[in-house]
Amino acid sequence: MRVASLCASALLSAAATHGAAAPLASRQVAEPIRGVNLGGLFVLEPWITPSLFEPWAAAPNSPVVDEWTYCAVLGRDECQSRLRAHWRSWVQESDVSALAALGINTLRIPIGYWALAPDRSEPYVQGQIPYLERVLDWAARRGMRVILDLHGAPGSQNGFDNSGRRGDIGWTKRGGDIPRTLSALRALARIAARHPAVVAVEALNEPANWGVPKAAIAQFYTQAYDIIKSAAPATTVVFHDAFLPDSEWANLVPQNLTDSILDTHIYHVFDEGTLGLSAPAHAAKACADGRSIRRFNARTRTICGEFSLATTDCARWLNGFQRGARWDGTFQRTRPVLPGATCAGQEDMGTWSAVKRAEVRQFAMAQLQAYEAGSGWIFWNFKTESADSWNYIKLAQNGIIPSPPVGSAFGMCLA
Ligand SMILES: *[C@@H]1O[C@H](CO)[C@@H](O)[C@H](O)[C@H]1NC(C)=O
Repeated sequence: MRVASLCASALLSAAATHGAAAPLASRQVAEPIRGVNLGGLFVLEPWITPSLFEPWAAAPNSPVVDEWTYCAVLGRDECQSRLRAHWRSWVQESDVSALAALGINTLRIPIGYWALAPDRSEPYVQGQIPYLERVLDWAARRGMRVILDLHGAPGSQNGFDNSGRRGDIGWTKRGGDIPRTLSALRALARIAARHPAVVAVEALNEPANWGVPKAAIAQFYTQAYDIIKSAAPATTVVFHDAFLPDSEWANLVPQNLTDSILDTHIYHVFDEGTLGLSAPAHAAKACADGRSIRRFNARTRTICGEFSLATTDCARWLNGFQRGARWDGTFQRTRPVLPGATCAGQEDMGTWSAVKRAEVRQFAMAQLQAYEAGSGWIFWNFKTESADSWNYIKLAQNGIIPSPPVGSAFGMCLA
């Protein structure tokens, strides 16, 4: 289902000339993908929308840390009413318009299994789908493409709060987990099939290879492909790389799954090695990652489906509710990564110096160019309440991410 080459080159030159994505015939993945994630909508993350979690900010050892515990503590009725208000307000039609005007051609929308294959014995609440369909309509009206992304699986596939449930990696450890995950995917694929904006379904976000055997992930991917393709034959299937290096990608996505995209996520802030890099070294790493992406893209379309402009982990609660940051020595270490490093002002664009703004802009251009050497990129996140280096709309409207975001034109990464 690749875009025919004539059409693709017409699109590329139109994009290069005008920036904004030209409308495509339906059911084609735009190439390159220039996208954003609609994170924090159907799967809560305390650091994206801290206002929802503020009531527990000072609670000793807070009982609320993620969507599961948010609903468990509030109870079904109160959770339902707060989440309904959140679904109604967090993504507005004006956000989708702003993104289209900035040259974004694709939205990746995370959603948890509990919206698709509910179990009333769990604390999660339902009612997400009409709000999802509203966003699909807004996207369709502007010629934007959508990737639906299963972001949480039963038991949690990674133990992160963004799977819905922080803590253990339980996915695949109970007999019913895989069938339930496949049921959720079937439901997601049926939504994809009936809505022309949807071009792809991602089988599962970030399964952790350290908690689930690699062979089990690969086997699940083959099953997921069949389920998605039988419910939505025209829909491309996206597979996250399970945090494995590029040398292992071919094992995860067998070549007979012909209509696939490999998705790798590239952050510079979750390990001490990349946290300490200089600004030029951050840009150089982006370009090096782009070369891996380009190499595998020759075999299977490859995207960077999550990245940001953060070079510290200072966004409040980024590492989990009530947790600190490695950067200033308040999480997982007792000293700052660099002598004297603090988090003050790191996520407040208003305090950035001209030098810092220029460095962040260079980092943006390097990443966009690097990932366009593959099949494109999807920024995390479309917006945030307070973490500016993760807020696409704010960054682009302030000129830190160039608009239109034509990465291939930036001249940051040399071949
Ligand atoms: C790909 O090959 C595997 C194993 O050889 C098989 O189980 C699976 O059904 C195949 N999938 C497709 C879409 O051909």
